[in-house]
Amino acid sequence: MKTLEALYEAQKIAFSPFVFQTAATLIELNVLETIESNRENKLTIDELTQKVDVSKYGLTVLLEMAIAAGMVTSDEEGKLELTKVGYFVLTDKMTKVNLNFTQDVCYLGLFNLTDAIKKGTPEGLKMIGDWPTVYEGLSQLPDKIKKSWFDFDHYYSDNAFGEALEIIFKNNPKQIFDIGGNTGKWAIASAKHNPNVQVKILDLPGQINLAQQNINTINDIKDRVSYLPINMLDPLSEIPAGADVYWMSQFLDCFSEQEIENILLKIKKNCAADSDIYIMETFIDDQKFQAASYSLIATSLYFTAIANGNSKMYSKSVFKYIIDKAGFETVNEFPSIGTGYHTILHCKLKK
Ligand SMILES: C[S@@+](CC[C@H](N)C(=O)[O-])C[C@H]1O[C@@H](n2cnc3c(N)ncnc32)[C@H](O)[C@@H]1O
Repeated sequence: MKTLEALYEAQKIAFSPFVFQTAATLIELNVLETIESNRENKLTIDELTQKVDVSKYGLTVLLEMAIAAGMVTSDEEGKLELTKVGYFVLTDKMTKVNLNFTQDVCYLGLFNLTDAIKKGTPEGLKMIGDWPTVYEGLSQLPDKIKKSWFDFDHYYSDNAFGEALEIIFKNNPKQIFDIGGNTGKWAIASAKHNPNVQVKILDLPGQINLAQQNINTINDIKDRVSYLPINMLDPLSEIPAGADVYWMSQFLDCFSEQEIENILLKIKKNCAADSDIYIMETFIDDQKFQAASYSLIATSLYFTAIANGNSKMYSKSVFKYIIDKAGFETVNEFPSIGTGYHTILHCKLKK
């Protein structure tokens, strides 16, 4: 890279929060949407001012930044158009959940990243609530933050559940333990998928309450779902016996390497010799698309600054090392699940 190009790239980093906030504001104030819906008959800033509730000054500063950042173009007559990047910022689902998550859940807290790195604790969490980790607070988050957190979480896992069900039900399990079952989406999907299966959701008490509220309204499955409020970080907590399948979706990445091993050891303590353990994760080294691996790598810093201070999005090799260390073997791998971000590791107790 030439010196001047490198200097330009360095300024993009120095001012990246300005670009981010410009994008968020242009969406919030309906400006990108209005530019796009007038694509056939392009608008100037003066014409745009008539259509959105923003001053000419406001539009000028925002759009100058958006043009410099490559989201919008302006032709010689000052007519505005979204670039392909701007179009994705406005319409792409992954970009939308990532942007809302960054803005509502992470933005203020990320200011505390240096302290979080130094202390190994989620120093930014205090910006949205007073809990030791975000998981104790999930059910109590203010509505907008809660929605952005769950939209982010569900965007990645929902798309994978259809294909995952086919894999998990190959051996016709009778009892599934959904560890980190959250609001019950997997429990609902699997109980609907198979009319005989029983599902037990294991999670922190706040999430168990949310899951119960959701599932109690669904008559044909509510009697086949049971609940166990549990804190996996409590050294005395136990995962009971009795599951054919232990299912953990986007769960183990919420913990440090040592904690992941401890949770696997809790499973090992009571599971049957032939139990199936399925771990579904978005591994940073198992992605086809740069956009996905970039998103996942950035997500690690959410864990650092806001979620719990000690976990991250992992690579598959790290997980397989921990699985092996805990006394399990990976007997099968299913990459590119759903829209392609997830991998399922099928594990069994070592013989
Ligand atoms: C990222 S969410 C994954 C939810 C769901 N399995 C999915 O695929 O979308 C992680 C879940 O783990 C739960 N969790 C985090 N820490 C926990 C702990 N110490 N004990 C029990 N559950 C915990 C959270 O409450 C949350 O429901």
